[in-house]
Amino acid sequence: MLSFRSALLLLAAAAAAFSLISGGDCRPSCSASPAQWCSSVEIAAKCGVLEQCFGANVTKSSAPPVNISLYYESLCPGCRQFLVLQLMPTFFMLNDIMNVELVPYGNAQETGPPGNYVYTCQHGPEECTGNMIETCMLNKMGDDAYLAINCMEMSVDVLKAAKPCSELFTEKSYWDDIQKCVSGAEGNKLMHLNAVKTGALKPPHEYVPWVTVNGEHSEDLQQKAMSSLFNLVCSLYKVSLGLNSGQVLLYFSDFKRIKP
Ligand SMILES: *[C@@H]1O[C@H](CO)[C@@H](O)[C@H](O)[C@H]1NC(C)=O
Ligand SMILES: *[C@@H]1O[C@H](CO)[C@@H](O)[C@H](O)[C@H]1NC(C)=O
Repeated sequence: MLSFRSALLLLAAAAAAFSLISGGDCRPSCSASPAQWCSSVEIAAKCGVLEQCFGANVTKSSAPPVNISLYYESLCPGCRQFLVLQLMPTFFMLNDIMNVELVPYGNAQETGPPGNYVYTCQHGPEECTGNMIETCMLNKMGDDAYLAINCMEMSVDVLKAAKPCSELFTEKSYWDDIQKCVSGAEGNKLMHLNAVKTGALKPPHEYVPWVTVNGEHSEDLQQKAMSSLFNLVCSLYKVSLGLNSGQVLLYFSDFKRIKP
């Protein structure tokens, strides 16, 4: 059985290729995962985080993960592109310093009485089905849902890919559970939660894909996420060590001074 971790390792190859094109702060020559960055001076140097690690060692701070939420629709081309080319490769590579939340709903509309909501989607009824399948995957499959949804969104036919994608990464078949959820009251209730969460966005979403970073949205964060989510998460993670560059230099010189 392919565990989530080993699937991540396999996909790290793709993610590494991705980081080569994205360039920036996180050096591609560094193959260690961020959790290992400060484990030795050699790795810290390779990964270009030497100063940050000395600072972190002094303060013993452990930074909280960066929370990325994606509000999207299953058949929107821009959403699929962001999910497959930015969000998932970044998550596969930086999964120990970031949390990812997927909210499939986007510009959908909800009508009807509580418990029996009717949904209308921007790209038609098929998109509502896709949103519902992915919502149920997230509820039933744990971390495997990310792999299954990535698999669906990178397929030519998103809906036809749902069943094979749900079976690709796990021995256990979730498909019966997913189907029951999709056509039953449970899916209806879960989709309502997506509608409520999307409706509660501040500022309200104006388009999809819509990204929030630690619960916040701005045009600047959105643009950075779209052009290189990898670099955005790296830069925010370092910032959240709570050290500005002056402090880092100070820690760094302290470290050198106490070193024999
Ligand atoms: C950080 O501290 C640990 C032990 O506390 C040490 O093994 C490691 O080499 C240090 N890392 C750096 C970059 O100084
Ligand atoms: C990130 O998400 C976790 C879990 O949902 C939450 O506990 C934490 O406060 C969030 N962090 C930030 C910075 O929003």
